[in-house]
Amino acid sequence: MSTDFAATKALFHLPKGVIYLDGNSLGPLPKSAPARMHEVMTAQWGELLIRGWNLAQWMEWPTRIGDRIGRLIGAEPGHVVMGDTLSIKVYQALASALQMNPNRRVILSDTGNFPSDLYMAQGLCATLGPEYRLKTVEPDAVEAAIDDSVAVVMITEVDYRTGRRHDMAALSAKAHEVGALIIWDLAHSAGALPVDVATGGADFAVGCSYKYLNSGPGGPAFIYVAPRHAEVAQPALSGWLGHDAPFAFDTDYRPGAGIERMRVGTPAVLQLAALDAALDAWDDVDMADLRAASLALTDRFIAGVEAQCPDLTLVTPRAHDRRGSQVSFRHPEGYAIMQALIANGVIGDFRAPDILRFGFTPLYIGVADVTAATLVLSRIMTTRAWDRPEFMRRARVT
Ligand SMILES: Cc1ncc(COP(=O)(O)O)c(C=O)c1O
Repeated sequence: MSTDFAATKALFHLPKGVIYLDGNSLGPLPKSAPARMHEVMTAQWGELLIRGWNLAQWMEWPTRIGDRIGRLIGAEPGHVVMGDTLSIKVYQALASALQMNPNRRVILSDTGNFPSDLYMAQGLCATLGPEYRLKTVEPDAVEAAIDDSVAVVMITEVDYRTGRRHDMAALSAKAHEVGALIIWDLAHSAGALPVDVATGGADFAVGCSYKYLNSGPGGPAFIYVAPRHAEVAQPALSGWLGHDAPFAFDTDYRPGAGIERMRVGTPAVLQLAALDAALDAWDDVDMADLRAASLALTDRFIAGVEAQCPDLTLVTPRAHDRRGSQVSFRHPEGYAIMQALIANGVIGDFRAPDILRFGFTPLYIGVADVTAATLVLSRIMTTRAWDRPEFMRRARVT
């Protein structure tokens, strides 16, 4: 293994006394991010003022930083751009893909997809008219449901609840075989495992940067458009910065070249600065090493919890090629158990109705953390430490 995970761990601020198993939801603070943001605020925003757009190349950041993420997801250079939130990027990809398949009206997805993706599809169908519809099937039934009625298949590669992983190459091939397009949501894949959108046949891919890529709360999303569609895809959200010549201030929209057209409005420069700093952690990371370390951690956690906590039921597939970098267990009192864990320094999260979710991020989580977290969980289960009123009270964010 060539990757030095002790070195990457040293790049993150991890609060004392905390084992952080929720980097699949919000990555921790890279130590370099505050200084980078401070510099952008003071030396660039403060001193350059409006000149920052040209002198500090702020306008190029969405594509420059997009390419840094592109390297982690197997994208061809020049085909990823940052901006907005993931829900918006899902909408853009869907709208473009539907327009590219004008004789069909069905979006196919699965019931394990993240609700926002489904909601965006429902909203888009409502806007386009009653003949458009979102069809959802069970995750195991997706491949069989891809037929020649489907315009677009919209799949999140790794299920946010169970950690179940779809086969990108197989589903993309099936979609193309029947004349459908396919959109991959990589929210739980980018930075979690090796991804190759180019050889995986993705027509579009989208994802967020605040989970495994550690850009901070509300960090910008990314969108990839396959080179074969780059000049064809029509951006439904035709904002001025996706225009061919934004500063010509034409009154008519004309899409920009390639991935530029997927930009909408003014980029969030400060959040992009944090993301840029966060991405430095990946410079010397071999994705195969990351995957090997992630599987070793998740295998160890599964074995430990199953041996010590018989009341918890594993919902994540055991087979390596069928899962991402998280492990989930089911328990009717999952919410209270998670609150008790957090109170005892092990941070994971809970997803309704009964899922305890733990993310494993080799960049800063190691074997000792897995052993310690398993012990705390086992103690909480054996002593029923979770069975207290304060752990039952639901917060707004779970
Ligand atoms: C798979 C998936 N899609 C979409 C979203 C929504 O992302 P955003 O809130 O950035 O729009 C999330 C958020 O966690 C997600 O996990």
